[in-house]
Amino acid sequence: MTTGTPRGGTDRSFLFVLGSSRADGNAEMLARAAAEQLPADVPRRWVDLARLPLPDFQDVRHETGSRHVDENEELLRQATLEATDIVIASPLYWYALSAHAKRYLDYWSGWLTVPGSDFKERMAGRTLWGVTAMAEREEVVADGLVTSLNHTAAYMRMRFGGVLLGNGSRPGQVQDDDRAMVRAKTFFRQEAPIARFR
Ligand SMILES: Cc1cc2nc3c(=O)[nH]c(=O)nc-3n(C[C@H](O)[C@H](O)[C@H](O)COP(=O)(O)O)c2cc1C
Repeated sequence: MTTGTPRGGTDRSFLFVLGSSRADGNAEMLARAAAEQLPADVPRRWVDLARLPLPDFQDVRHETGSRHVDENEELLRQATLEATDIVIASPLYWYALSAHAKRYLDYWSGWLTVPGSDFKERMAGRTLWGVTAMAEREEVVADGLVTSLNHTAAYMRMRFGGVLLGNGSRPGQVQDDDRAMVRAKTFFRQEAPIARFR
């Protein structure tokens, strides 16, 4: 980890994708603490998947003909393509991403085959980050979520900045996790190497 100058400048733009099933949750709080440390000139956008519901993903990748594209889906696809850095802020649900966050990533599979979109080529070299909050204190229980995001980045030939972990159950409790709040201050300064399957 480096704690030097954050990679910043106007060439970066962050998309924060909130995956909690409740408003003002711990994962969002931790993500906002980390975002506060970004250079002021770095554009950032927040999308709350609970407020932009996506229908259950339907796998029509290998079917012919056009498919209906939901308004929220198109907004999320455009927002994803416009960002250099995608931050998935999801609570730990059953040792994995929340259903909201997982469904958003399932849509990436659909976007891979949208004619003319070159989704995979355009996402290559961008950076995927994770932020999660969980009730348990043993951080090892989040390994599944971390591996899932790392492998997603590797498949997409993206960089992976790692996952910022915080402890908390009730909304706001993550602020009592001193270690998480300290880590939030330098999280986005971390090196984000090209992801590899590991
Ligand atoms: C459906 C569900 C599943 C959960 N699964 C886990 C879990 O596997 N491990 C854990 O430590 N906490 C688990 N929790 C607790 C949440 O991760 C914790 O309350 C977290 O702070 C919620 O984040 P949020 O406030 O951003 O929604 C679960 C909570 C819910 C509602």
